[in-house]
Amino acid sequence: MSIESPFKSNILDNQVALVTGGSSGIGLEICRQLGKHGCSVAMMGRRAEILTLAEKMLTDEGIRALSVQGDVRKPEDCIRAIKSTVEKFGGLNCLINGAAGNFLCAAENLSPNGFKTVLDIDTQGTFNMCRSAFSELRKSSNANIINITATFHYAAMWYQLHVCTAKAAIDALTRSLALEWGEYGIRVNGIAPGPIADTAGFSKLGGSLMDTDSSNNPLLETIPLKRIGTKWDIAMSVLYLCSSAGQNITGTILVNDGGNWLHKPQILDRETVQSFSRSIEKKSRQEGIATKSKL
Ligand code: HXC
Repeated sequence: MSIESPFKSNILDNQVALVTGGSSGIGLEICRQLGKHGCSVAMMGRRAEILTLAEKMLTDEGIRALSVQGDVRKPEDCIRAIKSTVEKFGGLNCLINGAAGNFLCAAENLSPNGFKTVLDIDTQGTFNMCRSAFSELRKSSNANIINITATFHYAAMWYQLHVCTAKAAIDALTRSLALEWGEYGIRVNGIAPGPIADTAGFSKLGGSLMDTDSSNNPLLETIPLKRIGTKWDIAMSVLYLCSSAGQNITGTILVNDGGNWLHKPQILDRETVQSFSRSIEKKSRQEGIATKSKL
């Protein structure tokens, strides 16, 4: 269930966005919210049937939508998706790279092709799209790219070696492009979602094994804000970065995870800390006095 947007419905009037991985999950909600705020949206994905359904769903909601079948691993598909978007909507202001591949796999069981496949979709795919979109984005007076990554690589994550490697590379790409393309008026940022309910990523990474409504959900223990993120949360971050509110922001990665990546187990409870910490200070003060009196 979507909450009402805090943004005015015309903040993206006359804008055109292309969203890879836009026909389902987080990508689809990004498309919906962009569309509800005045933007025309093109969705790119591999599954023709899902794309057709998504295009119809958005069109029925009054959104100017287009779907383009294609694989971000193929540069020719990327070029074709940009061309179709420009032909339909007259330009391109915003590229959202949301297409990604993921599965859990212990490092020793990961085949070279399994590793390569995720890097090809996530990292090479993001580069392919950015490179293909450059000449159109450069023509726009308000252009921006948003790369959807993750937080797993900030430290490390079990069974996600391939994904950590791919997402770390995307964050590096984001900063380098921000540096090089700023003078062309193209902003380049990332958004790093944490666990997001009702997505393929959430189910694939084991989230579906937990009862998200239960207060005993072990995942909630790892999230300082004690809530599982929603697709809407991520879409709102996209609106902020795409709108004029984000005009001075480039090269940053906006973490949207309820503080999940900061999680550390709470070894001492607050009451213990209060008494323990004071008692240590008192003891060291007394020892200091005793030492001084001996001098
Ligand atoms: C081990 C696996 C595997 C698994 C595939 N492979 N699944 N290895 N465990 N579960 C291996 C295959 O054996 C093969 O290697 C290689 O990966 C390529 O597999 P294919 O099926 O041929 O590739 P392809 O059809 O291109 O599919 C790509 C895919 C698939 C990534 C494997 O899952 C996919 O298309 N995913 C897109 C949708 C998706 O995953 N969305 C979730 C994104 S979530 P060999 O050696 O056998 O040839 C997300 C969240 C990030 O990104 C973190 C958020 C917090």
